[in-house]
Amino acid sequence: MSDNLPIIAPSILSSDFGNLQREIEMINGSEADWIHVDVMDGEFVPNISFGIPVCKAIARYAEKPLDVHLMIIRPERYVESFSKAGASLITVHAEACTHLHRVVQLIKGANCKVGVALNPHTPVEALTDIIDQLDMVLIMSVNPGFGGQQFIRNSFDKIKRLRAIIQQRGSSTLIEVDGGVNDQNATELVQAGADVLVAGNHIFQSKSPKETISLLKNATARTV
Ligand code: DX5
Ligand code: ZN
Repeated sequence: MSDNLPIIAPSILSSDFGNLQREIEMINGSEADWIHVDVMDGEFVPNISFGIPVCKAIARYAEKPLDVHLMIIRPERYVESFSKAGASLITVHAEACTHLHRVVQLIKGANCKVGVALNPHTPVEALTDIIDQLDMVLIMSVNPGFGGQQFIRNSFDKIKRLRAIIQQRGSSTLIEVDGGVNDQNATELVQAGADVLVAGNHIFQSKSPKETISLLKNATARTV
């Protein structure tokens, strides 16, 4: 059953930036699979997080792949820099790219896996004609910009519709869910078709982040 368990990607955005090394070491020693790195430009989203130097610092200590989520307009300007800063996977927003197909090729050319994120209002059908080019689609289950927001329930329907498109196209694209993920919705998300769960506040505000990661990782297994 273990290959059916979701990939868990703790979002470093909710961690203690004053103790970044310690937080990364906690993730290294946990059952998490990736480290989710949220980059915000204050323009595509109403918040600024951090950029390339911090990504490099995270990479210095990380023993797990960096899943870099770029919430910035015209992300093609920074693909090469984030690749050099240690990103394994780069996700850009469909809404932030005029020529999404071109940006996808650029990310592949930089030797990174490629993801495309969709805001809550963007239909999954927007990616039908590009799906076989993508390693991952990120479904935003909150409006991007901040951790700790409430999960939007329509995301379940989007995940199911996206799963159907992926199956129909015979593609192996992963589905990642980001925003408001917790132990209350993790099982239902995996059952709807999610492969990757991002969680920020739920992990880092908990008493034992390592244990919370383990509970998320094994949530589905406990109910089957
Ligand atoms: C939101 C970010 C998320 C965020 C998730 O714009 O993309 O990755 O860190 O945080 P939680 O899990 O607290 O909603
Ligand atoms: Zn994110």
